[in-house]
Amino acid sequence: MGFATEAIHAGQEPDATTGAVSVPIYQTSTYVQEALGKHKGFEYARTQNPTRLALERNVATLECGSSAHCFASGMSAITTVLLLLRAGDHVIVSENTYGGTYRLFERVLRNFGLDFTYVDTSDAGEVESALRDSTRMVFLEIPTNPVMTIADIDAIGRITTDRGIRLVVDNTFMSPFFFRPIEHGADLVVHSTTKYLNGHSDSVGGVVVEKHAEDAERIGFTQNAVGAILSPFDSWLVMRGIKTLAVRMQQHDANGRQVAQFLAEHPKVQKVIYPGLSTHPQFQRARKLFSGFGGMIAFETGSLAAARALLDNVRLCALAESLGGVETLISHPATMTHASVPVEDRLRLGITDGMVRISVGIEDVDDIIADLDRALQQE
Ligand SMILES: Cc1ncc(COP(=O)(O)O)c(C=O)c1O
Repeated sequence: MGFATEAIHAGQEPDATTGAVSVPIYQTSTYVQEALGKHKGFEYARTQNPTRLALERNVATLECGSSAHCFASGMSAITTVLLLLRAGDHVIVSENTYGGTYRLFERVLRNFGLDFTYVDTSDAGEVESALRDSTRMVFLEIPTNPVMTIADIDAIGRITTDRGIRLVVDNTFMSPFFFRPIEHGADLVVHSTTKYLNGHSDSVGGVVVEKHAEDAERIGFTQNAVGAILSPFDSWLVMRGIKTLAVRMQQHDANGRQVAQFLAEHPKVQKVIYPGLSTHPQFQRARKLFSGFGGMIAFETGSLAAARALLDNVRLCALAESLGGVETLISHPATMTHASVPVEDRLRLGITDGMVRISVGIEDVDDIIADLDRALQQE
């Protein structure tokens, strides 16, 4: 079946009791058992919940995985993936990954004996050079947040497969509508469902999609042991959001292309980073990997003062962290999403004080452009 059909139907049978078309919100903490050891597959809601299960089956299908587990946030999903490792293991990471991921790796997991090396994953040679005997995982964010670097996943996938190293991809920015990393060698895919999958800025959640049964078993075990599960109501919200993922992503992409072009031609904008512009360093790779370019754009205003003037003067675009909602969100990575990255690392990665990130929503694109144009004139 096509993507839009799977998004609406995969994992979502009409309710067995009532025929309800929408999977019910099973707001329960436990399930009555007929007799000792005799139950319907559900014992306790940290371990299993039918609403969450329906969402997990849905996302697993969309990402071409074999199974999935949904978490209370993108960060708890990523944490649980890293708990597949042991003290002494080494991980190679995309160098300008989301600031919260960097903070988790450097300020939490390093204390438990994991070691991390950050490289430019657009070059598979850099990944190869960083390999150690103890390397057990490569963690890619595609594209990276906010500099939009696109990893050479096909070449990296060959390196990891040959050596039995797990390849993990954070696919939050593209969503499975545009990009399915498992088709390119990934073993695990993670998302902050807070973003495009839910799509309406009204839920925080995460998901891990597994390709291999042994990873699925371990992630499920760890999820139950640690307990950072997605609630039934949030599971239902994300499932509802995903029903319109295909149409939303098409509109994010159409609007994203137009806003990127407008910014690229604007005299007050020095540089635009968008995978769909031919000036993007990995434009050809983006065209090969993705079926669209989405709505995430980073651009350079030249200074903190210029960025501040723009952000102070937008009216339709909301100054806010997060991304992937129907409404256009605009943010300042240096002081917001990436404030936890040390300043020298931030500057080396190109996250300047003048950089602005925009998550282009699905409003009328002329209104988004008019808002940006007016705010850019205010400097
Ligand atoms: C690429 C990416 N991964 C993971 C996360 C973390 O997700 P959450 O905020 O749902 O914990 C974010 C949050 O912004 C993100 O942008």
